[in-house]
Amino acid sequence: MQVNDDSISSEAWEVWNNAYVPYSGFKVGAVLVADSGKRYTGCNIEVPIMSLSLCAERVALINALTHGERNFVSMVIAAGSDQPLMPCGACRQMLSEFASNLLITSLNRKGGQITVSLKELFPYPPVHGMEG
Ligand code: THU
Repeated sequence: MQVNDDSISSEAWEVWNNAYVPYSGFKVGAVLVADSGKRYTGCNIEVPIMSLSLCAERVALINALTHGERNFVSMVIAAGSDQPLMPCGACRQMLSEFASNLLITSLNRKGGQITVSLKELFPYPPVHGMEG
């Protein structure tokens, strides 16, 4: 599947530009589309303790959740890597809580893109088992 909507791609590159990446120098931008049709952006934000840094995908998700959204249909990610970037394990886990049918399109600087479903990336989310 192709993202033919130029405006969502430009939005992803626009927020990519806002990434705060003094430690890796690797910018990522994300646009998350809610079932309301509204779009929520996020970029990666780093601090010297890299494990505390936030990925663009999670920042977009938190932004949307903060605005009261709970269901999502698609996400566009923009990054400068040659290979299409896919969300890390932590982002897959968090996205799967709210967006089991999410379609993720990853754009690179050379104009390449790939679309995969979150189900493909994270087929067996852990369930929270409670006894009784
Ligand atoms: N990063 C993202 O924002 N999204 C991804 O899908 C993978 C990695 C960020 C985390 C860190 O700030 C930088 O990219 C290098 O890993």
